[in-house]
Amino acid sequence: MKRFIVAASVLQLAAADWQYKSRTDLAIPRLNITIPAADNVEQGFLFVAPFAGYPDTAFEQHGPRQAGPYIFRDNGDLIWSGYGIYSIWSTNFQAAKWKGRDVLFSFEGDHNAGYGHGHGHTTIMDQHYETVRELRAGNHKLTDKHEFHVVSDNTAVIQVYQPVPRDLTAYGASEEQQWIVNAIFQELDITTGELLFEWASLDHVAPDEAILPINPGQAGSGYNSSDAWDYFHINSVDKNSDGDYIVSARDACSVHKINGSDGSIIWRLDGNKSSFKLGENVTFCFQHHARFHPELKSEDDGDDIEIISLYDNSAHGTEDGRGTEVHTAPTSSGKIIKLNTTAWTAELVQGFYPPDDLRSKSQGSTQLLPNGNVIVNWGSEGALTEYDSEGNVLFHTYMDSGYLGLGVENYRGFRYNWTGLPNEEPSIVALENDDGTTVYVSWNGDTETRVWRFYAVTGRFGGKTLLGETKRTSFETSLTLPKQSGLTIVAEALDVKGNVLRTTAKVNSEREVLPAKGGKKHGGLLVQGQQKPAWMEL
Ligand SMILES: *[C@@H]1O[C@H](CO)[C@@H](O)[C@H](O)[C@H]1NC(C)=O
Ligand SMILES: *[C@@H]1O[C@H](CO)[C@@H](O)[C@H](O)[C@H]1NC(C)=O
Ligand SMILES: *[C@@H]1O[C@H](CO)[C@@H](O)[C@H](O)[C@H]1NC(C)=O
Ligand SMILES: *[C@@H]1O[C@H](CO)[C@@H](O)[C@H](O)[C@H]1NC(C)=O
Ligand SMILES: *[C@@H]1O[C@H](CO)[C@@H](O)[C@H](O)[C@H]1NC(C)=O
Ligand SMILES: *[C@@H]1O[C@H](CO)[C@@H](O)[C@H](O)[C@H]1NC(C)=O
Ligand SMILES: *[C@@H]1O[C@H](CO)[C@@H](O)[C@H](O)[C@H]1NC(C)=O
Repeated sequence: MKRFIVAASVLQLAAADWQYKSRTDLAIPRLNITIPAADNVEQGFLFVAPFAGYPDTAFEQHGPRQAGPYIFRDNGDLIWSGYGIYSIWSTNFQAAKWKGRDVLFSFEGDHNAGYGHGHGHTTIMDQHYETVRELRAGNHKLTDKHEFHVVSDNTAVIQVYQPVPRDLTAYGASEEQQWIVNAIFQELDITTGELLFEWASLDHVAPDEAILPINPGQAGSGYNSSDAWDYFHINSVDKNSDGDYIVSARDACSVHKINGSDGSIIWRLDGNKSSFKLGENVTFCFQHHARFHPELKSEDDGDDIEIISLYDNSAHGTEDGRGTEVHTAPTSSGKIIKLNTTAWTAELVQGFYPPDDLRSKSQGSTQLLPNGNVIVNWGSEGALTEYDSEGNVLFHTYMDSGYLGLGVENYRGFRYNWTGLPNEEPSIVALENDDGTTVYVSWNGDTETRVWRFYAVTGRFGGKTLLGETKRTSFETSLTLPKQSGLTIVAEALDVKGNVLRTTAKVNSEREVLPAKGGKKHGGLLVQGQQKPAWMEL
């Protein structure tokens, strides 16, 4: 009886996949786009790494089936699946420039969802999707999942969760509760891995800045090194051109500015020791992803003006529903905040509020785009929104659809331009059925192909006869030929100038196996109010 139930649910999932004939191994997330992209969204692709918020059991499986880093177009069409390429558990997937080169990077490692941290390394790939660097933390420590951020031509900041024993009785702990997380960040030379700067929270921030007390069910109860009290919880680090840093300290509900020479604290924004008087709606809590924005300063703004952005969760709670949930606002939001360090005032420049009253207990990001638009990624709610600079919604999507979409989460989400030139060969298959032979091609990660040209291979010496060509409009491209069996086919990828980028392997056509009739089919992309994906210019 049990076995039957498992088999049935596996079958259902298999039927839900089968999106690409040329890549039957891919079962990508289907974006549930509830507000299709307006004309004035910023140019570029979406960079996300969705994962299942609930653990799979023998009886219940959760989406996405293939958690990993993905590049999508705005209509949900796939550019690149990094599933199985970036392995283990992957998050904080982005494009960046390293020494003038375009690269991709992602955290890869172990994920401890209960305590909200992870241990691993940062993997950097080039435009050919080949690994060019694996960066580990310095000083015999392990990189945490939250941050990797390139802050100069060849340096990046990362962070570390370091459990250390301390006497915590002054903060309400018993004598057995001795473990606390020293929240550390490091700046590293990306090429050599050399440690250039290290800052540790316990040298500068006392445990009384914690908003959450040391208590079972809260951020660690201190009984052992695996259960250390996460009193500060850094989840982002940025550096400005003066050489100073800001850190987002989730469990202090505060952003701290840190002197890059001596590590001292220059100011605190919010939390219970704020240096600033907060204007209307500035206050935030359990926030993520604080970034400097000197480019937003106007000409009249002097050195005493600083502008930052962040993602304000305004919510805390364990994902599995254990422990108490804390809310400090009706929804989460993206925020741009202007600081005056003469008047010591903080005012809200713009707030970005969610279309569906989303409030995420964990994760999240706010990306300011070159054209003034803003992308807010709703962390544990598995959704992403693009706004114009006034806060009007231009695009909204959930990370997966239907029963697979339940509980999908995405730590951070971005829009970047990206040119992908895969080293791997394109994939090709030719399938015969009663109506004819259809050839399917795809090339994971390719952004350059505009047209696919198909040839029949004739004779023993490999002569070629042109069969036709098809404009490339999405991940997979096909050409249907009149019924004829025994074809050997090859295809060429042509770029915008008509140059051949790559030729596929030769394939023999084979009889097509069709999806079972009456099976639960989820073919195609799901765009509300739209049957077929619109063709988007690459
Ligand atoms: C900080 O805030 C927490 C929660 O509101 C409170 O328990 C703690 O006493 C505060 N600490 C200080 C130094 O004000
Ligand atoms: C650490 O402490 C927690 C909370 O008391 C407990 O559940 C866990 O089993 C302990 N782990 C180890 C390795 O002792
Ligand atoms: C940072 O620290 C250095 C060395 O102590 C000091 O000279 C400098 O004024 C400090 N910067 C700020 C912005 O406080
Ligand atoms: C503050 O938030 C409230 C509720 O969302 C809103 O009505 C009000 O306009 C906001 N004020 C400012 C200055 O943004
Ligand atoms: C910053 O505050 C000072 C002191 O109140 C004030 O003179 C100055 O105009 C403020 N700067 C801006 C850009 O508002
Ligand atoms: C898409 O998301 C909306 C909003 O959460 C939900 O109502 C709808 O059922 C979802 N559609 C699918 C196919 O998952
Ligand atoms: C992508 O490139 C275009 C053209 O240069 C530019 O206008 C746009 O701002 C870029 N998008 C992003 C996300 O950087």
